[in-house]
Amino acid sequence: MTLDQLIEEIKLKAKPFYMNEEGVAFDDIHDWNHMRRVYGAAKKMLELAPEANRGEVLLAAILHDIGRANDRQASHAEISYNLAKEFLPEYQTEFLANNIDLEKVLKMVRYHSIAHICPDKAIAESLEFNILTDADKVDMFGALGMVRVPIAEAYKQPQVVYHTYEHLAKMTDPNNFQFRSEAGRKIGQKYKDYSEKFVKDLEAQQQEFELD
Ligand SMILES: [Fe+2]
Ligand SMILES: [Fe+2]
Repeated sequence: MTLDQLIEEIKLKAKPFYMNEEGVAFDDIHDWNHMRRVYGAAKKMLELAPEANRGEVLLAAILHDIGRANDRQASHAEISYNLAKEFLPEYQTEFLANNIDLEKVLKMVRYHSIAHICPDKAIAESLEFNILTDADKVDMFGALGMVRVPIAEAYKQPQVVYHTYEHLAKMTDPNNFQFRSEAGRKIGQKYKDYSEKFVKDLEAQQQEFELD
């Protein structure tokens, strides 16, 4: 099996996890459509980082949120990992033939949203892991992020405007959610800049009109 064939096969396995019972992408926020965007961003970053292991990045991108349908919080990564480890080992030979470390892909999935607690520092600091998390980050920012974030906030609480503002302010803080790879920065930074401007505009508009 070539790498492209392996990728297509794993996509077929992963797809049902990203869809609802009717076979439709369930919210465009963390479902099949989110995965497609992360996958697309990762592919663009890989063009700028040809030294990265393409298979590890793309397979982890395909699998990273398969646990989202069951949990919208950070622990979804653990669910994604548990689901992936059920069916991934049957491809061990194919992974080896394509120079892909199966255990590393599983760890990339498990810690994609909680890199700071990944016990394997070599993986958490690897180019492949950084590209995966950078590609995931790009979907938080830019015009798409401005549509996604309020919907994600609405899952959590009713004061959507204010919580969105607070969340976006945290996200766009230069110290938070930094791109960790050079390729990620080149592809993603303009979307973070867009969001930063949006937050400033939102803040200014609130201050202009929220009078006592
Ligand atoms: Fe995730
Ligand atoms: Fe994601």
